[in-house]
Amino acid sequence: ALPVIMDGDPGLDDAVAWLLALASPEVQVLGLCAVHGNVALPLTTRNAGVALALAGRGDVPVYAGTDRPLLRAPLSAATVHGDTGLPAAHLPEPVRPPEAGHAVTVLIDAARARPGALTLIATGPLTNVALAFRLAPDLPGLLREVVWMGGSTGHGNSTPAAEFNALADPHAAAVVFTSGATLRMVGLNVTMQCVASPERIEALRQLGNRCGEVCAELLTFYAGVYRQRYGLSGGALHDPLAVAAVLWPELLTWQAMHVEVDTQPGPNFGRTVCDLYGVRHQPANAHVAVGVDDESFFTRLLERLARLP
Ligand code: BDR
Ligand code: CA
Repeated sequence: ALPVIMDGDPGLDDAVAWLLALASPEVQVLGLCAVHGNVALPLTTRNAGVALALAGRGDVPVYAGTDRPLLRAPLSAATVHGDTGLPAAHLPEPVRPPEAGHAVTVLIDAARARPGALTLIATGPLTNVALAFRLAPDLPGLLREVVWMGGSTGHGNSTPAAEFNALADPHAAAVVFTSGATLRMVGLNVTMQCVASPERIEALRQLGNRCGEVCAELLTFYAGVYRQRYGLSGGALHDPLAVAAVLWPELLTWQAMHVEVDTQPGPNFGRTVCDLYGVRHQPANAHVAVGVDDESFFTRLLERLARLP
C-alpha cells in the first residue's frame, strides 16, 4: 500500500475524506496531521481523533500542527462546518490523545524515512506543509507527491476569486506552489461538481453502519448551508475528491500548468491563478484536475464507507 499522511482541518468533508482513506487498502495512513482552518486547531486535532474512533482505527497517530496562518489573520468556516467542525449529535470520543510531536516535524521525519515514497494528502490551509518545506528544504524533493484540495481554475467560494484553503493561508500556498514539489491540485472547478444530494445522503444512511449514519448527518447539515449559499442541492465533496485522486486518478482529467498564488492585498488575494492556455510560457508546477467522473466517484466512495464500522 502507498504510504500517506493526511494533513487537514476537519471540518466535515475532511472527516469524510479521512474515513475514505482509512477504508481503502490502496493506502496506508501513517498519521493524521491537524492544522488551523475550518475551526481552531484544538478542535481540528480533536476531530481527527473522532474520525479514527469512527473508523475503529486506534492504531493511527494524530499530530497537532500549526494554530494560525503564516502572515494573514486567521479565518474560520464554522458557519459551514458548525461550531465544533463536526455537526453530528452522537459522536464517539477520540480513541487516543494526540501524540507529543508537532505535525511539521512528523511530516519531515516520515518523508526522510522513505525517500520518494510518501504521498501527502492536504485538505486544508497549507501552513504545516509550507513550514515543513522551509524547515527541511530537501522535503519537496523527497515526497512522492503532494495532492491538495484547494484553489480553483476559475472562481472562488470564500471570495469571488479565492477558495477557502487558499485564502486561509495564501502565503503558505505560495511557498508550496514555488517549492518544486510534485503537486496535484484538486480545486473547486472539479469539487463543486461532486454534490452530496439528498438521494446520495439517503444512500449513505442506507449503508446501515455507524459511519454511513454519521456521514449522512454531517452532510445534511452541510446541505443546508450549500443550498442557501451556493444554490446547490447539497454540499460539495471537496476533500474526499482529493483522496479519490490518489486512489483512482483515472476518475479525474489532469492538465499540467503553471499556477501562481496571488498574495497581493486586494480582490484577488488568495486566488490560484491557473494558466490553462499556457499564455505566460512558464514551466508547469502542478497537475491540475480539470474534469471529474462524479458518478463513479460517488459510487466508489459509498462502497468504501460501507466497509467501515
Ligand atoms: C475547502 O474548504 C473547507 O471548508 C473544506 O473542508 C474544504 O477543504 C473547500 O473550499
Ligand atoms: Ca478541509
